[in-house]
This record gives sequence, C-alpha cells and structure tokens, in this order.
Amino acid sequence: MTDAAPQPVFLKDYTPFGFLVDQVELNFHLQPTATRVRAKIAFRPNPAARDRRFFLHGEDLTLISAAIDGSPVTPEITPEGLSCPVPEAPFVWEAEVEIAPAENTALEGLYMSNGMYCTQCEAEGFRKITFYPDRPDVMAPFRVRVDCDLPVLLSNGNPVAQGAGWAEWNDPWPKPSYLFALVAGELVATSDRFTTSEGREVALNVWVRPADQGKADYALDSLIRSMKWDEEVYGRAYDLDVFNIVAVDDFNMGAMENKGLNVFNSRYVLASPETATDRDYENIERIIAHEYFHNWTGDRITCRDWFQLSLKEGLTVFRDSQFSADMRSAAVKRIEDVMTLRARQFREDNGPLAHPVRPESYTEINNFYTATVYEKGAEVIGMLRRLVGPEGYARALDLYFARHDGQACTIEDWLQVFEEATGRDLTQFKRWYSQAGTPRVKVTEDFRDGTYTLHLEQKTPPTPGQDEKQPQVIPLAVGLLSSNGDEVLPTTVIELTEARQDAVFEGLAAKPVPSLLRGFSAPVILERDSAPEERAFLLAHDTDPFNKWEAGRSLAREVLIAMVTEEAAPAPAWLDALAAVARDEALDPAFRALALRLPGEDELAEALAERGTVPDPLAIHAARERAKTAVARHLDPLWAGLYAQMDCPGPYSPGAADAGRRALRLAALGYMARLDGGARAQAHFAAADNMTDEIGALSVLLETGGADEALDRFARRWGHDRLVMDKWFGLQATLAAPERAVAVTRALTEHPEFTWKNPNRFRAVIGGFSANAAGFHDASGAGYDLVADWLIRLDAVNPQTAARMSTAFETWARYDAGRREKAQAALERIAAREGLSRDMGEMVDRLLA
Ligand code: ARG
Ligand code: ZN
Repeated sequence: MTDAAPQPVFLKDYTPFGFLVDQVELNFHLQPTATRVRAKIAFRPNPAARDRRFFLHGEDLTLISAAIDGSPVTPEITPEGLSCPVPEAPFVWEAEVEIAPAENTALEGLYMSNGMYCTQCEAEGFRKITFYPDRPDVMAPFRVRVDCDLPVLLSNGNPVAQGAGWAEWNDPWPKPSYLFALVAGELVATSDRFTTSEGREVALNVWVRPADQGKADYALDSLIRSMKWDEEVYGRAYDLDVFNIVAVDDFNMGAMENKGLNVFNSRYVLASPETATDRDYENIERIIAHEYFHNWTGDRITCRDWFQLSLKEGLTVFRDSQFSADMRSAAVKRIEDVMTLRARQFREDNGPLAHPVRPESYTEINNFYTATVYEKGAEVIGMLRRLVGPEGYARALDLYFARHDGQACTIEDWLQVFEEATGRDLTQFKRWYSQAGTPRVKVTEDFRDGTYTLHLEQKTPPTPGQDEKQPQVIPLAVGLLSSNGDEVLPTTVIELTEARQDAVFEGLAAKPVPSLLRGFSAPVILERDSAPEERAFLLAHDTDPFNKWEAGRSLAREVLIAMVTEEAAPAPAWLDALAAVARDEALDPAFRALALRLPGEDELAEALAERGTVPDPLAIHAARERAKTAVARHLDPLWAGLYAQMDCPGPYSPGAADAGRRALRLAALGYMARLDGGARAQAHFAAADNMTDEIGALSVLLETGGADEALDRFARRWGHDRLVMDKWFGLQATLAAPERAVAVTRALTEHPEFTWKNPNRFRAVIGGFSANAAGFHDASGAGYDLVADWLIRLDAVNPQTAARMSTAFETWARYDAGRREKAQAALERIAAREGLSRDMGEMVDRLLA
C-alpha cells in the first residue's frame, strides 16, 4: 500500500491559527525508548482568526492521555496530528505522550547522539515531541522540567532550580516551537561571563563531551566577540542570564539558534590547532556568530510562516558576513562569499531546483534551506544596503527592531521599514524575492568626444514555473580607470531598473577601462566581451580588490575554456599576470593564494554550458591539470622563495594573517609538487604541527600521487577522532583521479569506519565524491548509481540529509545524451522506491521535471 502523494503548501493559503498560546509547560521523563512528555498549554481564542478548528500537529507520538480544563478528552488522531472540540473561552490543554528518542534516526525532534539526548525542531520537529500548533507564528513562553539521571540537563531560557536527576528552566521570551531545545548528557563546559551594554551579567557555557574537553575555547571566544559586535554595530544586547552552546556529533546541518541554547554540529565547535584547519576556525567563528545573531533576527523577531524563511536566514547570513569581514579581511571575505555563491547558488538558480528567495510553495520545507534562501537572500540585503546607504540601512533596522520585537513577520514587514525609514519605493526591488534565476547583464560600450556610454541590458532566464521575468533593480557599482591605471571615476552606483538602459560619463580625456560590478554589487552574471589584455590590466591595476581578483578569475576561466575547447596552450599573458600577482608583496598573502587557485571543474562546466557547449567532464579535468602544470612551470622561479617566506614561525594562531600565509605557502607547495614529484610535500606532511599544514600537504599528495603512505600514517594517528577522520574520508573521495574515483569511493563505503548514519561521515564520502565532477559524471554512469544507491539507503533512515545530498544531480541536464540517460535512470530508480520519504520524493520530482 502506498500513501497518498503529499500535498504542497502554498504561501497564498496562509491563515492565522485560531488560538493564541499564553503559556507552555513541559515535563520530560527521559528514557531511550520510552520517554514521557507531559504538556500543559494555556490556549485562548485568537481574535484575529476566523477559523476556530482546534488542530494540533503531532507525528509518531503515542498519546497516553489528554484533558481539557482537567476533564479527559478523546481527540481524533491522524498521522499528522489531532483535533478535538474545545470551549469558546480560554482553556488549558493537557496531554501525555510517549516517544522513543533512541529509535529516532532522522535526527529531527528528540533524539540520541553518542549517549546524549538532544533536539532539533526547526522547521517541524517539535511535532515529534508533543502535540502542538507547530508553526512559527504561534509564540509563547515555555517552562520546562527535565527528569533524567544524566548530570547535565539543559533547556531554553534561565535556570530555575535543579536537584539530583532533575532541572527546571524558564524562558520568559515568547517563542515559536521550532526554537525549543532540550539537552541531557554527560557534558563538560568551557565557561566565561559577559556583561551586556545594558548591564546584564550573562554566564556563557560551551558544552562538549568529556573526550572533547579543551577544544571549545575558540567557540567561546567567537561567542564573546559576536556579542560585543552585535551591541556595537546593531545595538542589540543579549536578553537572558545564560547562553548555552552544545556540540552534538550527529546533526543534520550546521547549527541551530534555539533560544538561549544553541545546538551545534560538533564540527563547528570543536577546534585545536592539531585537529582543526584554518578553514574550520573560520567556520566556527562565522557559525557561532550566525546562531548568536539569530537571537534578534530569528528569535526575538521570527517568521510568520516558512515561506518567509529568508527574513531571518538571509538577514542573519548578511550579518555574519559583516562580522567576518570585520574580524578578518573584508576583501578576502567578499571573494570567498562570491565563490561560494557562484558554486552553490548560481548552480541552483540555473537548474531544475531554482526557486525564488521567497518560494511560493513547498512540499517539504526542509528542502528549502537552500543557497538561494540563505546566500542569495543575504545578497539581496546587501543590495538594499547599497541602495539606501549605511545610514538608511541603520535607520531601517532600528525601526525593524522597535516595531516588530516579539512578532512573527513577513518580507513585506521587512521592506516596509525600509520604505518608511528612507522614503524609497521598493515595489520593483521586491522582485528579488519573487523571481528565481540569476539575471544576466549584458554590457557594450562606446566612446565619442569625451563621452563614454555603457549600454546595459538585463535579462533573467526562465526557471521552473516562471517563464517570463520582469526587470529587476540592479545596483551596478562602477569605476573607470585610465590607461595608465589611474582611477578617473571612483566607485559609483548605477541603478539599473529597465530592460535596457544607458549610463553616460562625460568629460573624459580618453576612452577609459571600466571596472564593472565592483565588490560584486549584485548577484548577477555580467556578459561583456573584453580582451584578455584588458582583464590582465585590471588584475594589475584595479583599485577594487574584488574586481582585481575577478579580473584574474575571468581571465583564468577564458584560458581554461580555450584549453578545453581548442586544446589551446595556456595564454602567456595569463601566466605572466599570475606571476605578477604571486610576487607582489604589497598584496595580502590570502589574496595571492586566492588568485593562484584555478576555477573549479564545475564552474568551468557551467561556463561551457552557458555558451552552448556540452561540457565533457574528463576534458575539463585534463585541461585543468595541464593548466596547473603550466602555472607550476611558468612560476617555477617563485615557488621556493614564497614557500620559505610564508613560513609561520611561533605558536599556531588561527587569525587571518597567519592563515593567509599558510594558504599561500600551501598553494606554492601544490605547484612545486608538480615539478619535484611531491618530495617537498612529503616533508611538509611529516613536519606538520597543525592540521592546516597536515591536511594541506596530504591534499597535495593526493592530487599529484604518492599519498598512500601518508594516508596510512594519518589514519593511524587520527583514527580515534571522528572529525579529523571525516577529512580523511572526504579528501580521498573528492581528489581521486577520475578513472579511480568510483572504485576509491566504493572502497571507502566498505571501510569499517564508514559510519554512514552519521551525517558528517556520509557527507564526507558521498558528498565528497559528488564534488569530484569527473568521477561522479563518469561516462559509465557508475558514479550516478553509486550515489543513488546510497541516497536510497540513507533515505530510509534520515530523509533530510538524504534529500539534501540529492542536489548532486542538479546539473545532470547539462551533459551529453549518454550521461543524461544514465543520470535520469538513476533518479527514476530512486523515484520508484516504495516508502520514499516526502523529502526525497519532492527532490527527485523536481530534479526530473
Ligand atoms: N536555522 C538554522 C540555521 O540557520 C538551520 C536550521 C536548518 N533546519 C533544517 N530543517 N534544515 O542556522
Ligand atoms: Zn540561520
């Protein structure tokens, strides 16, 4: 028997819930397979609602008893929840249910990880804990009692009282159920205190398993810096007496902003120089900040419904990017953000999964925690800030916090505060929230009698369900340079609002070189034919650091594409330009390291498809290898000097300066390995005293060959450390040579330590392999089958993570008929599975549409 097809939910169907909740009291008796949850909830009719049906969500709950105002009732129960007649006046609902956290492999609701109890409720996990109106617009204060013989018992808010085997918590701030959290375990804290700008004394704790003690310092330090930053930059102070963070080993995503009790994937908390890379430290800092910033943009002001997800996520990503830019190098942060945006969001926007920043329908909301909602959502806020200016932005945000504190809001509420605070009409701007797809901006130019004109044309390609697009508001930051490199026009923002529009610059002595889309001022694809010499000129002279990098990147892209399609030799102009950047000591080492990185294989495949050429993954891989070797040879005289110069003596520091030096040094090491057979990399690996260098050298060896012994040594050394071993698994799958990738990955899945129910390990191997473009897209289809088999297997256990990983297939339609047929067959095989989850069902439907 198959279930009826799950029904989509539509934004246009929103109606408020018929009741308000004044207070929630929860009582947990924790047992691995028989946890009892008693709930006492004070409801009252919602004067703003017309529909008074009393329906409470509930899934996989065994109802033990239910009562209204003390009298037992027998509700009608379906797989989605229960309904029951209720009084037309305020009433108290009481229910007791039984659940089995130890059997919860989906890691949603209350579950167990390594002997500890923890919860994940966003988006709709609370309904697996008790019957409740599990929707973000129902906000209430929560009081929670936990009974359990584990030593540390945590929930949201402030501690009320505790004794042996129990603890009570009270969260005075009304919140939606998705922000509920509970943790019970044998945990140790790394602690500090923070005094807020309002004079509140806050106890800060980062809780980890005893084996991980000593690895929480950086997370705690990041938290303190985040708290200070949000006070200084946004005027937002923390509002409880404690702030708890818990590291959990089995977690479906990065982290979760539960009020006063953030729960984290342990990979974004735990760090020591020996076990975490510079990138890990940077991610910890960023994600700790992200979840902390949610306290105001998410918790105090939440979403009316899940279509508004970007209201909190786009804004909070934007805020954490600002924070990272302030903590580190703003230029490097911007470049890295744009690289991720292109690799993930542009890819999404260009394929079958494209959707607007505010989607109009979904079947499973967990499938919409996407790069579009998060990263494009953040870009939209960046554009808004650029358009209204920093002061206008600050005024709008002040109004937002003042007006909407304690509310569940919409994108309309958000735009409204900008309109009121700045007087600007945002009707057209709002299209950024409703139109999917990446706008293409085509630029041509002419110069006559001292007048330089840019002819701008915008067009957004069709996306699923949206054939026709309207012009959007595109802030295009432009600067003009003279041929000797002087800036003749400093950065100016052109507001492109029409389908076609000219920008005119008068009084110029000679035809300038334009620097367009500075700072990546809008998430668009710029289409402009420009000579390689001009790009090399901008790489050498542009005063905008982003565009300086971008000039090199686009030059590299052109060169690589010519190498793929015409088997051309790498252009000498490009190699010379790279050499000039590499040796320019005035440039930040981190910037130089980024400039020495070639565009990835997927980026090249996308660029080829964009030009109407069917990409050949093997040819792309081969061309990229040839290009790397050519760079290695051309810059040969530089490497040894750079390698020596970028040494970081002294104790390890995760700060941006040393991290940049290590990155440049490892880039040099990688190129050197193509000339010395990896000798230097072997030595680097053997001498490494931090994980950045150790894994950096191992990656070089994996790419250039001769890693076997190092891999064994690494595994012997780190076999006991899950997070470090995730790297070992992941790298092998990602960096395996195309012809070996399927076999290597299969062997990894047969490794006794391939604990595939752990999301981090599954992502490392299956996600790592999917990122190996030439391996995954093996012409035989074996890569597709391997991934499909594992998605099917994981879906039965953990639909959310399985569905997320299905995005490996989102580019299948760009390839040749043979590959398309095989990818499609693999997807159809998944679709045909009986008992497929709603999550995966929706994903394969969209991927095949
Ligand atoms: N709100 C969390 C964060 O951004 C992520 C929650 C993801 N939930 C999910 N069901 N995928 O920080
Ligand atoms: Zn978030």
